Amino acid sequence: MLQERPRQRGALRGVGARRQLVEEDDIAAVVEVLKSDYLTTGPAVERFERRLAEAVGAAESVACVNGTAALYMAARALSLGRNHTVIVPAITFLATASAPHLLGARVVFSDVDPKTGLMRATDLEEALSRAPNGVAEAVFPVHYAGQSCDMAAIAAVARGRTVLAPQLQAGIAGEIRLRAVDERPVLSERERQTLELVAEGLTAPEIGRRLCLATPTVKTHLHHVYDKLGVAERAAAVAEAMRRGLLE
Ligand SMILES: Cc1ncc(COP(=O)(O)O)c(C=O)c1O
Repeated sequence: MLQERPRQRGALRGVGARRQLVEEDDIAAVVEVLKSDYLTTGPAVERFERRLAEAVGAAESVACVNGTAALYMAARALSLGRNHTVIVPAITFLATASAPHLLGARVVFSDVDPKTGLMRATDLEEALSRAPNGVAEAVFPVHYAGQSCDMAAIAAVARGRTVLAPQLQAGIAGEIRLRAVDERPVLSERERQTLELVAEGLTAPEIGRRLCLATPTVKTHLHHVYDKLGVAERAAAVAEAMRRGLLE
């Protein structure tokens, strides 16, 4: 259910924070669980974990109670701790920073694009220049308000400037970290919705009205889609997304 909201003012105007998409089938799914034998764990959780793993191409996924717990678990899985530095965007929910902080890691805040709130490669460069010895163990970019960071550009900076601490070199923790940096980004939900409406032939202002977003924000989403799919225009983006199974 997309709700009309008063226009935002000032910085980040038009960015779709707090405009969540909750549809009738989402509500029905929650009601189904509330009426079932399991309020925690149980078959719905197993189904969710399996489907999520498939969606992101992972061997396993683990559901947890909220985003704060997920970030903490991810930081622990990376064996982050004392003497480690993590770069975190300055515009985010505090859990992005508190997860590594709780494990004793040093948090260095990076600036963000004032128009979108997203960490850019140049922001990461600048933040790394303030990190001890100019390096960090991990970077936590945040795909803020349904938008995606330019992960290819961020990974290009991170690859040269993040170091594997000895305890990260062996085993699964190192593997997770490297995969997170190298993985080609999938489309965010907002980008997928934008592309779906492009495929229906809607213009950027029409898409903006449908998704309650400002037209420049729609165009930014579209450009991220082009970058991720390696295409230059709408028709090619739709064709490539269908080829990759990102659109039906
Ligand atoms: C970017 C970001 N990370 C983490 C969280 C934490 O999620 P939760 O409230 O589910 O703990 C939020 C919550 O708003 C968030 O916006």
